[in-house]
Amino acid sequence: KKVVLAYSGGLDTSIILKWLEDTYGCEVVTFTADLGQGEELEPARAKAEKMGVKEIYIEDLREEFVRDYVFPMFRANTIYEGEYLLGTSIARPLIAKRLVEIANQTGADAISHGATGKGNDQVRFELGAYALKPGVKVIAPWREWDLLSREKLMAYAKEHDIPVDFAKQGKKSPYSMDANLLHISYEGGILEDPWAEPEEDMWRWSVSPEAAPDTPTYIDLTYEKGDIVAIDGERLKPHEVLEKLNKLGGANGIGRLDIVENRYVGMKSRGAYETPGGTIMLKAHRAIESITLDREVAHLKDELMPRYAEMIYNGYWWSPERKLLQTIIDESQEVVNGKVRVKLYKGNVIPVGRESADTLFDENIATFEDDAGAYNQKDAEGFIKLNALRLRIAANKGRKLG
Ligand code: ARG
Ligand code: SIN
Repeated sequence: KKVVLAYSGGLDTSIILKWLEDTYGCEVVTFTADLGQGEELEPARAKAEKMGVKEIYIEDLREEFVRDYVFPMFRANTIYEGEYLLGTSIARPLIAKRLVEIANQTGADAISHGATGKGNDQVRFELGAYALKPGVKVIAPWREWDLLSREKLMAYAKEHDIPVDFAKQGKKSPYSMDANLLHISYEGGILEDPWAEPEEDMWRWSVSPEAAPDTPTYIDLTYEKGDIVAIDGERLKPHEVLEKLNKLGGANGIGRLDIVENRYVGMKSRGAYETPGGTIMLKAHRAIESITLDREVAHLKDELMPRYAEMIYNGYWWSPERKLLQTIIDESQEVVNGKVRVKLYKGNVIPVGRESADTLFDENIATFEDDAGAYNQKDAEGFIKLNALRLRIAANKGRKLG
């Protein structure tokens, strides 16, 4: 009996570690990943060792995360419910995959995680795990134990000699947070009142738009097949791109979001998100697509996007329907090459220039000046008349159209 636990090194997952051993008498393998959350990983190793864990997996997954999950998602201009850039949602499939792979490597038959029974994360971890390892056993302590208050958790920690300084170092946040290279999310605390504005000192990556510089920052983003490959001409790896855009965006007050969203399990939830780099990527990607994509392809992508976003939000990354949509999205990006210039200014991302060897923009045709016969304005007359035919018939037959 062996279980692979998604272990952050914090107090909650340390308690889970101990609880798994006690409740199931099983051996625990820990898995801790660097997804760019900005925390040292070595303390997690030290804590796991101290708790007697023999198999400890600690991995830097930043490059894989951005290359194989974040970038593919941004090719679709993905947002959930018109606002949320899916920073937490898109990290879960990768964690699920590694949990399963480590289970296979270590001969474990179960996986475990620290997500509660009220949220989306449990669904994402577990749908992913079942899809990739159909026979896997899942242990979700938050759904099983009775340690449902802070006091009960602390008492359990004390009773089982789990040092309480296992709580994360630094200022203890009053929020439930999740961070990776794409975003930080904040939930709980005063945010549970949808009328209460987040306090300024909640935000960790961005200055407020009010405090942002009075002079704009211009950046040039180079695209290849829909992905950013260079900033201001400097070639960067995917995770380096995102790191750099987070800094530039954060310094200009970009990427703060405060929403109430619909969780898959049925409840509404108020959350605040900080996604500086992602907010720049979304705007800039639309700008490069605006000159390189055919109109119908672009519109079709826009129709499919909310479905794709829902698949990711609800935890169906590892599914035939997501895979199918990804194929369509990726195929559309063959021509999405070129350069976009954006201006970052006090919370705004303003595209100001775009160019591409694959551009469909034809100055000769679009011009308001003499086009030397490139476009025959007379053709428009028949185009409009035929399109108006059914309207005129209906009106002639007495239908009220207005
Ligand atoms: N509501 C967001 C989502 O469902 C963020 C969840 C944050 N998760 C967390 N464990 N704090 O994607
Ligand atoms: C959790 O319940 O673990 C966090 C919130 C969520 O998953 O939506």
